[in-house]
Amino acid sequence: MLRDLTTFHLGGPAELYLEVKNKKDIIYAHNLAKKINLFVLGGGSDILVSDKGIKGIVIKIIDKTLKIKGNILVGRAGVVWDYLVEKSIQKGLSGIECLSGIPGTLGAAPIQNIGAYGQELADTFESLIAFDRKNNEFIKMNKKDCRFAYRDSIFKKEAGRYIIFEVTLKLKKDNTPKIKYDSLSFYLNENGINNPSLWDVRNAVLAIRKAKLEDWNIIGNAGSFFKNPEISKNDFQKLKKIIGEVPAYPTGNKVKIPAAFLIEKAGWKGKSFKTAAVSDKHALILINLGGKAKANDIKNLAEKIVLDVKQKYKIKLVPEVQLIGF
Ligand code: EPU
Repeated sequence: MLRDLTTFHLGGPAELYLEVKNKKDIIYAHNLAKKINLFVLGGGSDILVSDKGIKGIVIKIIDKTLKIKGNILVGRAGVVWDYLVEKSIQKGLSGIECLSGIPGTLGAAPIQNIGAYGQELADTFESLIAFDRKNNEFIKMNKKDCRFAYRDSIFKKEAGRYIIFEVTLKLKKDNTPKIKYDSLSFYLNENGINNPSLWDVRNAVLAIRKAKLEDWNIIGNAGSFFKNPEISKNDFQKLKKIIGEVPAYPTGNKVKIPAAFLIEKAGWKGKSFKTAAVSDKHALILINLGGKAKANDIKNLAEKIVLDVKQKYKIKLVPEVQLIGF
């Protein structure tokens, strides 16, 4: 059952589930799935799978080989993301320390260009090797090919086409990380850490995550359910007229608004719907209540929130989590 393999602890069966190790196995799975659906599972931390499950073949790459040479890090898709962060810090390499504690695998990290506390994967990404199911070949893709954007990439835009096999990151030999995120620098200041080391940053991020986010081992969830909307400056002025002061972060000629703020303002924080709820710790997290949620209840709750926020604030929230098999 896929519920055993996702952090939401939700999802019915896969028609066929294969653990694959190498390039040969990937080609085998691809050939087997020529006429049916093939879904690649990573750490299951960013998906909501329906209770009907997934029609077709689900594969999981289990190769966890990781090589670090100088500041270059090459890992197979099955490497656990946070293990990689820890190893990089051990080697005195900076660039992904703020991405500490993110659940999931290295192979899944490029899909939504994981990001937190002022860093995102694209900042240190060098290249990857993927199997292109359209052209039946393994290819090397550089940063440009991946078309990274905020929580987005070609792997989301052309879902199902590529199977990521190996990822290369280029980090920096540097033990004086620069802090770019308010809540992180606030935490470090509060704790009297003025010149944080990579370990200090990692520990601070882990502590903030523990305080703010829900632990999926205890309560099923997939982190932020929605993306933070990016709106025009004009729409931002309109929003302020409706809602008053809004926390906002400029991104080019747009303004990024925390979806959590809109959801909380709309009155959803801590609210439940059947077996699903909005976390009372963080309004962007939907949770599996008592471990008994139906995937449809989570989906319906998400839809209710989208509708309500749209009606109240004229902003359309878009899920960050991928919905599979509905
Ligand atoms: N806020 C509320 N109510 C809440 C929580 C937050 O109003 O219940 C407001 C506050 O104004 C707060 C602001 O939202 O200052 C931002 O909150 P936070 O720092 O927790 O960040 P976020 O924008 O909600 C994003 C990422 C997280 C990432 C954090 C830290 C997205 C969709 N989410 O959340 O990523 O950990 O920043 O960088 O961009 C994930 O992708 O699963 C994830 C957890």
